[in-house]
Amino acid sequence: MSEDRTLSSRKVLITGGAGGLGLPTVLALLKNGATVIVLDRDSAKIEELKSAANGLPGNLIIESVDLSNSDELKDVLLKVQSEIGGIDTLINNAAIYPSKPFEEYSLEEYQLIQRINVESAVICAQSVLPAMKENRFGRIVNISSITFSGGWENLSPYVASKGALIGLARTWAREFGAFGITVNCVAPGAFPTDAEKIHPDIEGYTKRIYDHQAIKRRGNPSDIVNVINFFISQDSGFVTGQTLNVDGGWVMN
Ligand SMILES: NC(=O)c1ccc[n+]([C@@H]2O[C@H](COP(=O)([O-])OP(=O)(O)OC[C@H]3O[C@@H](n4cnc5c(N)ncnc54)[C@H](O)[C@@H]3O)[C@@H](O)[C@H]2O)c1
Repeated sequence: MSEDRTLSSRKVLITGGAGGLGLPTVLALLKNGATVIVLDRDSAKIEELKSAANGLPGNLIIESVDLSNSDELKDVLLKVQSEIGGIDTLINNAAIYPSKPFEEYSLEEYQLIQRINVESAVICAQSVLPAMKENRFGRIVNISSITFSGGWENLSPYVASKGALIGLARTWAREFGAFGITVNCVAPGAFPTDAEKIHPDIEGYTKRIYDHQAIKRRGNPSDIVNVINFFISQDSGFVTGQTLNVDGGWVMN
């Protein structure tokens, strides 16, 4: 008899799960009965998540951790897996997105952005892979960004980090495909979350969005959640190493 791989049987680890796009993703997973482990550090957002998740089926585990601290992160990953067993689904979603001209970034700032946006994903993947390989099943989704496709200024360390996540997803897809593990990227376009607050002229930014998108409405969190759900589902088992832009038809390639 084949193993139950439905969402209700899954143990899903998501970084930045209390954020603008993370929270609706977590709620959707809980509604499907999954066990969801959220790694985040923003206590106000964590409280919001807790109250939004109240009464939903599924099992929510929240670990407050600074993803830029690799030792702290490794310890939390070990602790969680010793308590609940191996994780079969990983969503690398957390990011920071400072914005300023390239010359003004110190090397330390650049490195911090890579630590949170990329290295935490590397550490999480290395931690969950042994169980995925043993069970010959796994789903990994890296949240990238359409900013990697060009046309954006002042975000160089962030854009570099989003490109790294795509590169990693492709190589992980090659290395782990034989173990039944798929790895894909979701590249959101412009979604109205905290990420948008980096734009000083929000009216001008909104106009830019409508000018570029083929679909003339703002993206909803459900637009992202639906695509994540596809990539982590059993139905997408023949899709790996791909990046799907979810941007209302902004970038086309
Ligand atoms: N919102 C958009 O328009 C948009 C567009 C393109 C890509 N994205 C990507 O989508 C993902 C989610 O973005 P969002 O819009 O939900 O942003 P967000 O800022 O609302 O959420 C990010 C989450 O990551 C957490 N986080 C950041 N640094 C952390 C650290 N050091 N330790 C622990 N937690 C940390 C934050 O607390 C927050 O909850 C990100 O990868 C982002 O790059 C978003």
